[in-house]
Amino acid sequence: MLSGSLGRAAKKAMEILFALGRMYGARRLIDVSSVQVSGVSYENLGEAGLEFLEEMAADGRATVPATLNPAGMDLADWPRMGIDEAFAARQLRVIRAFERMGIRPTCTCTPYLAGNVPAAGEHVAWGESSAVCYANSILGARTNREGGPSALASALTGRTAEYGLHLDEARRPAVTVEVRASLKGPADFGALGLVLGRRTGNRVPLLLGLPEASEDEWKSLCASIATYGGAALFHVPGLTPGEASEPQERIEITARDIEEAVRSMNDGAEPDLVAIGCPHCSLEELRLLSALLDGRRVVRETWIATARPVKAAATAQGLVERIERSGAKVLADTCFVVAPIRGRFRCMATNSAKAVFYARSKNRFHTVFAPLERLVEIAVGG
Ligand code: F3S
Repeated sequence: MLSGSLGRAAKKAMEILFALGRMYGARRLIDVSSVQVSGVSYENLGEAGLEFLEEMAADGRATVPATLNPAGMDLADWPRMGIDEAFAARQLRVIRAFERMGIRPTCTCTPYLAGNVPAAGEHVAWGESSAVCYANSILGARTNREGGPSALASALTGRTAEYGLHLDEARRPAVTVEVRASLKGPADFGALGLVLGRRTGNRVPLLLGLPEASEDEWKSLCASIATYGGAALFHVPGLTPGEASEPQERIEITARDIEEAVRSMNDGAEPDLVAIGCPHCSLEELRLLSALLDGRRVVRETWIATARPVKAAATAQGLVERIERSGAKVLADTCFVVAPIRGRFRCMATNSAKAVFYARSKNRFHTVFAPLERLVEIAVGG
């Protein structure tokens, strides 16, 4: 590959992996069984990124199953989001370039809800911080937090450099965290991720005292801990595959810490966008939304993001129709953080701590942070 005998894209991809491996002191390259490619929205890629992808697509082909992160718009229904044609045309060129390389245009940050589910112990190369944390902590797969180019390089070569979370030593917990707060629902778990991220930084925590939690609560925790601290792995006894000994350093998180985190994500403005689905909604969440919105009418722009296969399953069960009868929009393929919506809204209401972070830092929105049930009340005018 490095010699160029397998094509220009494979050569470039191998050069990227070699450079990364050298930088992090990797001893070798290892095989990966799947790749989640980030860097998909034209909003983030720009012209230079699009050109790079089209160049790679000239002869680059994925050698392992690979899926895509969200794009800057719903690929089928983008006019409904108010996306302009120039952006849409470029976004579609990005997707076509990935498709030419044999990468599935799943366009979701929950690949594990769309058929890409690695087994415990498998080495993968995933981008997207929440998905990476979910793969490591819940599924027990092994992945670093790949950037767009390195994930693409792994898709084309089927390899990654062996360093960081591929190795046992980096996966050991470094700090024990006692959670002394009763948590209920994805929003609470997102608030916990904020506190954890700020207190433990990028050190791997061992979490004690957590209640049994749902898949949606874990995905919310994964999204916020990675956003506020950078840890791409946590251990929960009885959940995270593999043994983990208890580090001596201990910290405690109380109900008061959670309340303060929730307060810090609310700045008292009037929402003009209700955004649900960060990370993308599961079928269960869509079912709950359809019950909460049934027979009601939203008075604020309400966007609900999910993966296309999940939307298809929800459509088959009549859930999407019931939700959309309220005026809310169920969008696939996209994410409110990478969609080009800066300047269009003033205040976003969300149940995602991760979305709060980016709504403020990237889009300069005010934010309201609340559980799903409360978001529905806000959407219908409460
Ligand atoms: Fe997914 Fe976008 Fe949130 S990628 S985790 S919906 S910021």
